[in-house]
Formats: sequence, structure tokens, C-alpha cells
Amino acid sequence: MGNSEMHLDGKSIQFPTITGSENKKAFDISKLRADTGYVTLDYGLKNTAVTKSSITFLNGEEGILRYRGYPIEQLAEKASFLEVAYLLIYGELPSQKELDTFTSGVTNHTLIHENMKKFFEGYPQHAHPMGVLASMTCALSSFYPESLNPNADEESIDQTILRLIAKTATIAAWSYKNSVGHPVMYPQNRLDYSSNLLYMMFAKPTEPYEINDKVVSALNKLLILHADHEQNCSTFTTRVVGSSQASLYASISAGIMALWGPLHGGANQAVVEMLQQIYDDGGASKANIDKWIARFKDKESGQRLMGFGHRVYKNFDPRATIIKKAADEVLDDLNIDDPLLDIAKELEYAALNDPYFIDKKLYPNVDYYSGLLYRAMGIPVDMFTVMFALGRLPGWIANWKEMMEDKQPITRPRQIYIGENKRDFIPITER
Ligand code: CMC
Repeated sequence: MGNSEMHLDGKSIQFPTITGSENKKAFDISKLRADTGYVTLDYGLKNTAVTKSSITFLNGEEGILRYRGYPIEQLAEKASFLEVAYLLIYGELPSQKELDTFTSGVTNHTLIHENMKKFFEGYPQHAHPMGVLASMTCALSSFYPESLNPNADEESIDQTILRLIAKTATIAAWSYKNSVGHPVMYPQNRLDYSSNLLYMMFAKPTEPYEINDKVVSALNKLLILHADHEQNCSTFTTRVVGSSQASLYASISAGIMALWGPLHGGANQAVVEMLQQIYDDGGASKANIDKWIARFKDKESGQRLMGFGHRVYKNFDPRATIIKKAADEVLDDLNIDDPLLDIAKELEYAALNDPYFIDKKLYPNVDYYSGLLYRAMGIPVDMFTVMFALGRLPGWIANWKEMMEDKQPITRPRQIYIGENKRDFIPITER
């Protein structure tokens, strides 16, 4: 730990500096207000570390992403989603025995209370599955009132974690079934997490359902790539809600809602909708692509090139590289010729060679190709962000757990008040 010096109003003030792993540096300003009366203003928290964390390392300049020190490329290639979930939540890769116990814990909790099934009947068919997932996740807390205590013993927290991972998959699949008016399919505990999710979404009671291993493997990869991303909007939301000592279910439900927005997880849906619009407008011809690129550069148009740009990655998003390759492979394996993929590639090429995108360091992010991969798997557009949420769940849980174990205080930022100075009330007859 070092010190930095600041000169303010003729006084010299010292702040400790902190160096984290990988030489990450920060000023510790926790005494700033007490010592100086000043606060900091940082819209979007672009320069603010909100916590110390040992879960995920991200270097946006060099395109590096690691969970608990393990490179994302190795995890996506070699691990299963539940193995990565265990790693994120408990800090180490599980032994075979630990993984077996964790996996059977998840599979034993896949059923949801039969009364919850009735909730689905209350939703209109067109209900967005993200809204359904968020509210049903929160509703789970009413079936497990003991989970309302976020400071309960370890065993009880572990139980809630298993329930969350298991039951959100069932809720997600059933919200899809509800949207198409089909009967729900009960989970099959003989199946692994990804296969079971696909089964609950696509199997029908009327015919046998064959699980495609290539689709399962692509889904496993997608879930891993989404599993954590340090202090993103939804993870921070989960921490903020958890910091008030709300339950884990409530905190995760809030995280799901934050993820829904098109500038965050909702971007995967927005990308495919944008590509479809470009397709309907004339396809991948150079003239059409140039027209759309011009539109994305024009702030007046109100349209951004969705799936491009990132708050942290200013070089490339390593997840996008893996997903682009997986999308190519899956489409090839399944013999799918998706014209939207051609448009995505042309658009990417045009943007990466355009000074606007080059100067602003805008590159494809995780959502640029993930939607096309989901589409190839037969997952409907409305469900894309739900799939992202299922993937991000272990990251939210790990961050919530870390925050609780660190006994962090309630998150309560300051503001710079810019309203009226004191004035006296005027009776309504005199206004
Ligand atoms: N298309 C066109 N212009 C863009 C784009 C884009 N996709 N992204 C950023 N810009 C411009 C922006 O207009 C601004 O220009 P100027 O400096 O002239 O005002 C500049 O680049 C910086 O943008 P910003 O919005 O200040 O940057 P940010 O770090 O606050 O936002 C972002 C990051 C991801 C919200 C933004 O790049 C964006 O809106 N991208 C499109 C939505 C998207 O793909 N979101 C998924 C993010 S990755 C997954 C996830 O987080 O869930």
C-alpha cells in the first residue's frame, strides 16, 4: 500500500493507494468526505471501483477474461457449466466428488412447487419471459421463508444456491412453454444441466425428443461465457440489493431485471432484431450495409450498432471471438444457412474498417454473435436474454456471497444537489 497526495483549498491531503492482483491500482478515498467535505462525481461509475473482488479478472485493453484465475478460453473449451458455476461460487475447481455432490444437489431441486405452476396460467401468453423469470425468481422466496435471512448458516445458503440454479432453468423453460401455449415438460434428472434445459424447452408430450449433442455443447459454452463479468450493471445491482440485507432470491431477481435492458443483456435480442431489419431493408449488399453504418454513426438516428462497443473492452471481447467460431461451427453442423449471419459478417467488416468505430474503439461484444447461435439452436428471440440470465446466475451468486462474507456496508452513494435553495411554502391560493 502506498500514498498519494492531493492539494485542496491550500491543504495537503494523503490518500492510501491500493494495488490489487495483476498490478491493478486505485486510490482509497473512503475518508475523503470526512477529511475534506468533498465527494466525487462519476457518472456511470466509469472511474470507480465499487469493491475488491477475487472472482473475475478482466483486462479490457488486452481482451483478457479469467474466472478465479482460469482463462475463459480454457474454461469454455474444457469445463461444464456446473463445474464453472462451482468454481465461481466456491473459489476453486471442484474435485470429482465435489462436482458430483453439487450436480446431484442441483438435479434434486429442479422441480418447482406445483402451486407455482398455476402462476404461469395468470400470465398473458405474450408476457416477456424476462419479466416472468424475474418475478418468479422473487416468488421462490415465498416457498422457502427460511431463505429470507441472508445471514443464515452456510448449509442453508448452499441450499438456496442449489435451488436457484436448478429452479430458474425450469422457470425459464416453462415461461417459454407458456408463451407458445404448450404443456410444460417436467425436468429429467438423468440429463445434464444443458440437455435438461433444452428438453424442458423443446420436448413435447406427443413425441420423443432427441437431444442434439452439438447443440448441448454450444449451449454449455454459451452459459460458461456469460457466467461472470465482474462489476457489470446486473451484478452491481445484485450487490446493491443484497447490501440492504434483502434475501438472495430478491437480490438475484433484481439482477435479472437489470440484465433485461438493451444496453446490457437485452442486446442479444436487439442485435437479431437489427439484423432482421437490415435483411428486410435490402440484405447484405454493400450499398445497404453502408447506408446502415451511416445511420449507426449518426447520433440523430437514435440507432446504435447493437452488439458493438463495451464499457471495459477497448480492443476485443474474448467472448465474442469464441462465440463467432462456435456460431460458424453450429450453423455448419446443423446445415443452417442463416442470411442474418452473412449480414452480421458484412456489417462487422464494414464497422471494423470505419474510422468512427476504430477511433472510438468499438468492437463486437459477446452479444453480437450469441443471438445468431441461439437462433441456430431454435431458441426464440424473446428467450435470448433469459439464456444470458441463466448463464450469469453463478456470477451473481458468487458476487452476492463475496459481499456478504466481506460484511460490506449498505450501498448508499451521495449526490450533488443542484435544486432550489431553501424557500418558504406558498399557500395554493397565492400561487
Ligand atoms: N454504435 C454506435 N456508436 C456507439 C456504439 C454503438 N454500438 N457504442 C458506443 N458508441 C459511441 C457513443 O455514441 C459515444 O460517442 P461520443 O463519444 O461521440 O458521444 C462513444 O461511442 C462512447 O459510447 P458510450 O455510450 O459513452 O460508452 P459506454 O462505455 O457508456 O457504453 C455500451 C458501452 C455497451 C453501453 C455501448 O457501447 C452501447 O450502447 N453498445 C450497444 C449495446 C450493446 O451492444 N450492449 C451490450 C454490451 S456487452 C454485454 C453486456 O454488458 O451485457
